[in-house]
Amino acid sequence: SWTTTNVVEEAVAAIREQVGDKRAICGLSGGVDSAVAAALVQRAIGDQLTCVYVDHGLMRKGESEQVEKDFVAATGVQLKVVDAEERFLTALAGVSDPEEKRKIIGREFIRVFEQAQAEIIADEGPAVEFLVQGTLYPDVVESGGGTGTANIKSHHNVGGLPDDIEFKLIEPLRRLFKDEVRMVGQELGLPDEIVQRQPFPGPGLGIRIVGEVTKERLDLLREADAIAREELTAAGLDRDIWQCPVVLLADVRSVGVQGDGRTYGHPIVLRPVSSEDAMTADWSRLPYDVLSRISTRITNEVDEVNRVVLDITSKPPGTIEWE
Ligand code: XMP
Repeated sequence: SWTTTNVVEEAVAAIREQVGDKRAICGLSGGVDSAVAAALVQRAIGDQLTCVYVDHGLMRKGESEQVEKDFVAATGVQLKVVDAEERFLTALAGVSDPEEKRKIIGREFIRVFEQAQAEIIADEGPAVEFLVQGTLYPDVVESGGGTGTANIKSHHNVGGLPDDIEFKLIEPLRRLFKDEVRMVGQELGLPDEIVQRQPFPGPGLGIRIVGEVTKERLDLLREADAIAREELTAAGLDRDIWQCPVVLLADVRSVGVQGDGRTYGHPIVLRPVSSEDAMTADWSRLPYDVLSRISTRITNEVDEVNRVVLDITSKPPGTIEWE
């Protein structure tokens, strides 16, 4: 019968058998799927697993700490953290076009991840055979069935590495839906902040700044986003909404008045949406008092932000993210 305890026990036994005395690598994104997949594999093979977390500097407030401290504390996993903020910011300097930003972030991410992988292989030797992926059942169906191996080209000259490293895949969530993955994560003792996390795009806050991405703008947006999330959580609305992107219109300024002076600052957009699968979405009718608290706090607490606006567009025609 289907119980989370059975699912965990069966997965652990299967992973042990599959991996034997070899080693595995898993990339953590901060999201639910990779965290639960990693925790399951860690439960099965312990220190034969090494996780990699690329901190691109585009995460929200507290998210890197959740991976680097809370996830490690909950699982005891071996984690290699790569602080790549400088590298990403340099690559993004001067770029405003959304597609170009996405391409740059994706490209840099793969490079940094492969470099980390190559370093682990250089340390551990040829026993590193497996790559853990948080593929869910809907992903399997969408892509038409089986995978099996991943061919990952290494663009980096790390002594003694073959040009092509062929990994066998471990996909312990292949038969699960998202809500089941959350239950498994809970069973494995992962913190709620990770298990109940709402969707967040891979390119992170880089695609929630309309305009060029800079450290200063990221810091502003991180503050505004943290306030919105805090108030939504305090109001008990996390389960009612699908997600709520918070967007900084860095290329727009408007006139305001604060204290006894004129301001000329940036707007923050709130984009709360309801959805079943992100393919379509409706804007969430959040209570006015909650919106009001978020607006007051953001304009009081975040420098250079003097206006908060609400996005009331459904998808289609709007996408959930602004870029
Ligand atoms: P859009 O903006 O296309 O977003 O309506 C649909 C859902 O996908 C998320 N999203 C992404 N997730 N990498 C991801 O992992 C991405 O590049 C990406 N872009 C959008 C978005 O947050 C929403 O949940």
